[in-house]
Amino acid sequence: MPLDRRRFVRVMMAGGTALAAVPLLESCCGAGVAGEEARDPPADPLPGLDRGRTDILFLASLAPSSHNIQPWFVRIRDADHWVVGADVNRRLSAVDPQNRELMLSIGAFTENIVLAASASGYEAEIEVLASRAFDADLLEVRLWAAQPAGYPLQRLSDRRTLRGGYSNAELKADDVSALLEPLADRALFIPPSSPQAAYLKEAAVESFRAQTWRDAAQAELAEWIRFDDNAVFAHRDGLTLASMEISGIAACFVRLFADDVMSKNFREQGIKKTARLAGQGGGWFVVSSGDDSVAGLIETGRRWQRMNLLLRERGIAAHPMSQMLEEEPWRGELAGQLGLTGVPQFVLRVGYVEDYPGPVSPRRPVSWFVRR
Ligand SMILES: Cc1cc2nc3c(=O)[nH]c(=O)nc-3n(C[C@H](O)[C@H](O)[C@H](O)COP(=O)(O)O)c2cc1C
Repeated sequence: MPLDRRRFVRVMMAGGTALAAVPLLESCCGAGVAGEEARDPPADPLPGLDRGRTDILFLASLAPSSHNIQPWFVRIRDADHWVVGADVNRRLSAVDPQNRELMLSIGAFTENIVLAASASGYEAEIEVLASRAFDADLLEVRLWAAQPAGYPLQRLSDRRTLRGGYSNAELKADDVSALLEPLADRALFIPPSSPQAAYLKEAAVESFRAQTWRDAAQAELAEWIRFDDNAVFAHRDGLTLASMEISGIAACFVRLFADDVMSKNFREQGIKKTARLAGQGGGWFVVSSGDDSVAGLIETGRRWQRMNLLLRERGIAAHPMSQMLEEEPWRGELAGQLGLTGVPQFVLRVGYVEDYPGPVSPRRPVSWFVRR
């Protein structure tokens, strides 16, 4: 229900006390509930695909992507032969000019296809087609009948990015080794008390600050923020207040008074929040690839997603803080500062969380990204 500024003031007055106004305000503001409803499985199979194959594509779409752009399309050649590509209208040219993050997101999407297919009685064979990160067709999927594997699909539907409420307890060694196992030798754990962690904390805040004041990057972010439920349902992508962990009265306030992403206030609030978050957590993971090739980035995205899917059952959250891989000088100096041999692709703040709410980030219906 839309609420204009004048009505907001009237509601406050009529409520008498701030306490009495709280439930009313939350209901007026919608409290950002749309996300949970805007990620539902398709009611019917898509034409030419059965229920099982349609569900594989739905589960694939629950993969993470930067700004929740969901950059994928899937062309159905036949029921068992698909081509996954990058939607050129969903690029982030200001913060991801080389499509590096786009390839990582496609990797996470691909891993979800492989895992969902394996649980449904298919082996999904993947062949990377693209040699350039700007090619439209990126990879081919072929489904072959196989024994269903026992992979718990709930991991795919329950995964989410959670950024707040981290404990400062250092991650235990057995959690670190279980989470980094899918990444083999491409990941590094940085304990919270180390000098490298101090560097990452400062780099997270300063690179965020630099990006926030870079107008092209901020204007691009503005295009992907969905402030109200109408926008969430119309687009089914992007960052919602709920997915940015802004809810209740705070969400109401942002919708009414602070929805100008280019304003000084909006930028300063973002920097303040990032500084608070960067100081929380039980360490950092840095994920690298051997090189920046398309195949290397897709493989890194796949392995990273396998790690993501293990987080919830260990009560651990991971927050990608990507601005330091997007902005100079941090992008150029990070590998040297941390003594990495590979190319850093993700910097993740990690920590134990007591409260692990369900996913709220919207997803486009399968029919919106399937092409014939
Ligand atoms: C390559 C990549 C980079 C990301 N960078 C950030 C980041 O810098 N900050 C952040 O808060 N989330 C980041 N994310 C997380 C996305 O915002 C998140 O996946 C998306 O909004 C969908 O939400 P979900 O993960 O809860 O489904 C990144 C995700 C990917 C795949």
